[in-house]
Amino acid sequence: MNRENASQKVAVVTGANRSDGLGHNLLLEYRRRSYTAIGAYRDPATSAPLLDLAKADPLVIALPLDVRSPQSFRTFGQEVRTRVQRCDLLVSNTGLPATRQPLHQAGYNELLEQLQVHALALVALAQVLVPIMPRGSLIVNISSGLGSLQRMGSGYPGYSPAKTAANAFARQLAATLRDQGIGVVSLSPGAFRSNLGGQGWAGTADEAASVVAKRIDALTMADSGSFLSAATGEPIPW
Ligand SMILES: NC(=O)c1ccc[n+]([C@@H]2O[C@H](COP(=O)([O-])OP(=O)(O)OC[C@H]3O[C@@H](n4cnc5c(N)ncnc54)[C@H](OP(=O)(O)O)[C@@H]3O)[C@@H](O)[C@H]2O)c1
Repeated sequence: MNRENASQKVAVVTGANRSDGLGHNLLLEYRRRSYTAIGAYRDPATSAPLLDLAKADPLVIALPLDVRSPQSFRTFGQEVRTRVQRCDLLVSNTGLPATRQPLHQAGYNELLEQLQVHALALVALAQVLVPIMPRGSLIVNISSGLGSLQRMGSGYPGYSPAKTAANAFARQLAATLRDQGIGVVSLSPGAFRSNLGGQGWAGTADEAASVVAKRIDALTMADSGSFLSAATGEPIPW
């Protein structure tokens, strides 16, 4: 146990390696709220911001996780359970850009990766961490307005339907975990510049993280199972 205070809350955020990404900035938000913050990364070569932070702050823990690998989830879950024994907030944040080709020409493996990184990751994370999530804890699916089936067009091939799938998994997880007092919410952070997001887009990941964290602060169990705009708290059509 390498935490100062065993009663301290723990936040686990995936895709937390890039300083211009939402995950890393959410990790910083939760450190400011005095949580022990566990950030997942997959490639040390692109993860210096997280690895350096973990070296400087004993209450930041960096753990490897490749969400395409079932074994990686098992190892990750074991590490979290050994290091901190609890998880109060789990944020499934991994994402990757839409397929290069339109949907009818996209490669099978590219589409599979969209589903793994955006949708299956949420469920696999829940499977390894729910055993250490107390009543009142929360799982957040970082979704996107592009996952709205009602609004879906031909844009963002692979990405949009993978976000829809993530929303569906989140909704079913919410129903499954309700009796255990664990909430599950899909949040759309809105558009911001990042490695994934458009470089010309207006917001920064830092601003998006602040908006997402404030929304999380305001959530109650009554929101579990919903798909909300982080900025307004309004439901987004499925
Ligand atoms: N940017 C926007 O405007 C916007 C809008 C709506 C929703 N979102 C969502 O916000 C979330 C964060 O995106 P971002 O814009 O902040 O971009 P980002 O920094 O690129 O975040 C994506 C993260 O996912 C990680 N990742 C990808 N494949 C992975 C794998 N197989 N295993 C483990 N980690 C993997 C990436 O790691 P590497 O660095 O190793 O690639 C990266 O840390 C995503 O879910 C995205 O869909 C973003």
